[in-house]
Amino acid sequence: MSAWRHPAATADASINFDFARETARKAEEGKLDFLFIADGLYINEKSIPHFLNRFEPLTLLSALAGATRHLGLVGTVSTSYSDPFTVARQFASLDHLSGGRAGWNVVTSPLEGSAKNYSREHHPEHALRYRIADEYLEVVKGLWDSWEEDAFIRNKATGEFFDKNKLHPLNHNGPFFRVAGPLNIGRTPQGRPVIFQAGASSDGKKLAAKHADAIFTHQYTLSEAQRFYRDVKQQLAGHQRHPDDLHIFQGVSVIVGEDAQDVERQYQQTAALVSIENALNYLGRYFEHHDFSQYPLDEPFPDIGELGGNSFRSTTDHIKQQARERGLTLRQVALEAATPRPVFHGTPEQIADEMQLWFENEGADGFIIQGGTPEVFPRFVDQVIPLLQARGLFRKEYPGTTLRESFDLPLPENQFAPSSQLQEVV
Ligand SMILES: Cc1cc2nc3c(=O)[nH]c(=O)nc-3n(C[C@H](O)[C@H](O)[C@H](O)COP(=O)(O)O)c2cc1C
Repeated sequence: MSAWRHPAATADASINFDFARETARKAEEGKLDFLFIADGLYINEKSIPHFLNRFEPLTLLSALAGATRHLGLVGTVSTSYSDPFTVARQFASLDHLSGGRAGWNVVTSPLEGSAKNYSREHHPEHALRYRIADEYLEVVKGLWDSWEEDAFIRNKATGEFFDKNKLHPLNHNGPFFRVAGPLNIGRTPQGRPVIFQAGASSDGKKLAAKHADAIFTHQYTLSEAQRFYRDVKQQLAGHQRHPDDLHIFQGVSVIVGEDAQDVERQYQQTAALVSIENALNYLGRYFEHHDFSQYPLDEPFPDIGELGGNSFRSTTDHIKQQARERGLTLRQVALEAATPRPVFHGTPEQIADEMQLWFENEGADGFIIQGGTPEVFPRFVDQVIPLLQARGLFRKEYPGTTLRESFDLPLPENQFAPSSQLQEVV
């Protein structure tokens, strides 16, 4: 939140393409699976500084497609404020442009204010957002199956541009969407882009178990992560899916240091940049930009009732629960939210140990290294990745050229032509 003020920070990082390109190249040097771009659809003067002025994810990822060769390109787009036909086209285009490296982080948008930017009276309620998202994903997947892989013949001699039998309109007619199709772009190099889901409430987990190839989540301890992991993996069987069909990524912040003292110094340097006003604003954003400055700072966290339940529900539930169980004051809650101590901190060996522990004990299938100061990510790539490689826990080379190959996920069947896909695989 205040990391832009760090002496070494690129202060305009969120709108600086050179910064994005260098970060992507560093990630590729470390053989990481993907670069992940979060997004939101509403700002006000209390928003996180980098959110005030930033690239639209698909535009940025399209530019990065030309600057990278193996790195997956994952971007956030909301199912509450977009249309399935448009989004299916956009991600199919990114998949073609990047040679099969596109991923879509499906979110339902937590922020009430988004409605005001999209000509809507109301922000849809949490459960409704997830019902919309479910149908939305049915439609998008259907549209991505519009064309079989070899549908375009382009035979100049006969004049046959495509094979009519390999074109499949959708004719979807549901409670939220009516979409005829077909999509005006062919089947993509990955069959379809990889689908991520971020949202950890029970409705969020259900959506992921049904539709997603990967989850972006954030738990605070190994035991919480294990509970989440087992819960989601167990739900897969209900959709005739195998536990390996869905990868769970824990979003983690990291401090790589020379020793405990160095880690503490780095933590304090960042924490000192965050004023209590910053921290209250940061906390407030999770609760529909609630003004927490109206409460006494050093008394128990105020009773705010259901507030937050229709926005970042899984996060706000967690904050309220922690405040209650640990008897925290508002100041403590705000500072914990805004300047959390990274779970993964220490020497490169200690961080590798902790990651190994989570990875080998059903806490995570992988990790998303989040933000932090400018040194964090390069240090992670240069010092932690080689250790994970030496332990046989992480790849030394990309297995192929697509994100699906990096994830070791099979090509999806075309729902309109399952047997032809099967023959190809055989
Ligand atoms: C780890 C994580 C990352 C998220 N990233 C985004 C994001 O980039 N943009 C966004 O609009 N919402 C994001 N969300 C919000 C969810 O899409 C969802 O709208 C909100 O959290 C409420 O769902 P939940 O209660 O199921 O978590 C994220 C949620 C989580 C848990």
